[in-house]
Amino acid sequence: PTVYVGGEFLPLSRASVSVLDRGFIFGDGIYEVVPIYFGQPFRMAEHLDRLDRSLAKIEISQPMSREQWEGLVRDLIAKTDSQGNCAMVYIQVTRGVAKRDHAFPSPPVKPTVFAMVAPMVPPTEQVRRAGLKVISLPDERWLHCDIKSVSLLGNVLAKQAAVKAGVDEVVQFRDGMLTEGASCNIWVVKDGKVYAPPKNHLVLEGIRYGLMQELCEEIGIQFLLKPVPKEAVQSADELMLTSATKEVLPIVELDAQPVGSGRPGHVYESLRRAYDARIQ
Ligand code: PDD
Repeated sequence: PTVYVGGEFLPLSRASVSVLDRGFIFGDGIYEVVPIYFGQPFRMAEHLDRLDRSLAKIEISQPMSREQWEGLVRDLIAKTDSQGNCAMVYIQVTRGVAKRDHAFPSPPVKPTVFAMVAPMVPPTEQVRRAGLKVISLPDERWLHCDIKSVSLLGNVLAKQAAVKAGVDEVVQFRDGMLTEGASCNIWVVKDGKVYAPPKNHLVLEGIRYGLMQELCEEIGIQFLLKPVPKEAVQSADELMLTSATKEVLPIVELDAQPVGSGRPGHVYESLRRAYDARIQ
């Protein structure tokens, strides 16, 4: 596969970054994952807006114009031989290569831009029907979860806790309140309404936050952003998760207890249909 690094398109086997890159040394960078369906990026503008916000929040200067980002994504897709139906574009920007020093290099150095197309296997019909199992976990990450940072150790350890427990994901709680999964947002259904935590520094505002709101409006379901206590998650009628790669999926078991009926619920089914209609 062809990847983009340091201003050039190269075969993956020849692509490299300095060991002094601050992404490697400090995890000092940000990323995006843009899903691609039938060769078309899905909600690219929203992803690029969030990329801009992440860069601004950690004071990395914008390496490219919006037109250049869009062009890069389209060029990468065009250079991918076996496009299949689904893929994702991974974009990463780090603060660049500099002598190891915690403080930002002064004067600033050129940010390192890396991008690639990677395969994306959307959830199979079987997974959609069976639903996912999750465990709850204290959220032990930092307090800037709104930044889509490549410093993902907290998320990596959380996901590994799920693997060790033999489940698919974790649902994290901070001070007794729902935050999010290791790599997804979590949605709670109660009495026919959809709830999610407010968009603040404790969660990554998934691009599916905006999408879920639109889909709920479309199908006439009330959508509320407010703090969700753990008890409300435990007594939910339905739980769902969303991400660029998982789309929307039902959670049917939390800490070995059935969620609601223990099967994917009606609200999930409606949102799933509405989501599918957008990507087809
Ligand atoms: N993860 N929260 C976290 C911590 C995430 O890592 C992600 C996405 C989301 C959902 O955001 P979106 O709807 O924009 O994909 C929420 C990506 C897919 C990843 O790290 O691979």
